[in-house]
Amino acid sequence: MLNIALPKGRLGEKVYAMFAAAGFDCPAILEENRRLVFENEALGLRYFWVKPSDVAVYVERGAADAGVAGKDILLEHAPDVYELLDLKTGICRMAVAGPADFRDDSRRRLRVATKFDRIAGEYYASLGRDIDVIHLNGSIELAPLLGLSDVIVDIVETGATLRENGLAVLAEILPISARFITNKASYEFCREQIEALRRGLEKQTEERA
Ligand code: PRP
Repeated sequence: MLNIALPKGRLGEKVYAMFAAAGFDCPAILEENRRLVFENEALGLRYFWVKPSDVAVYVERGAADAGVAGKDILLEHAPDVYELLDLKTGICRMAVAGPADFRDDSRRRLRVATKFDRIAGEYYASLGRDIDVIHLNGSIELAPLLGLSDVIVDIVETGATLRENGLAVLAEILPISARFITNKASYEFCREQIEALRRGLEKQTEERA
């Protein structure tokens, strides 16, 4: 059995649809229930749903042979895995956001709230700007509203969360999308099966382009 970790939620559903369209389906996965593991014995595949930010942990440690993770997570945690394919879905951007009229005062350390400490740190280091990283786990947009931070570094998809909270994108850092990743040892031992998946998914990304 090849173990595949899928990110639970909206992105995972889109990504599973790509696996299914590529011929690697597992119909039980679409049933409404709380199960986390689904097998297609005939295809030798076992899918399981994990928290999106945990997919790379499962894959790096070999509990999953392959999986799908956002480029944001891969850059932030730099897991020791192979990134085989850009799935061109789950597209969003990593950006600096804050009040639209925010003006940076270079005499002060900039307070940056984020889930992505490394990405924020590297971005501001590249600008030579000294920052104070304030790590949060969610609802990052609240931080500048309550004066906890000056700006945030976060994912922007539709921009609705920023707009509805009176914030705006101040700078774009990186484009983000979902990636098909594999455990390094699994790629050696199960290369044929993993490559068949990669080719099938690649065809899906081309057809959807
Ligand atoms: C993400 C991100 C933004 C939002 C952006 O949050 O942190 O808050 O989505 O999407 P939008 O541009 O389409 O509004 P998520 O839903 O993952 O929840 P979180 O607050 O727990 O980070």
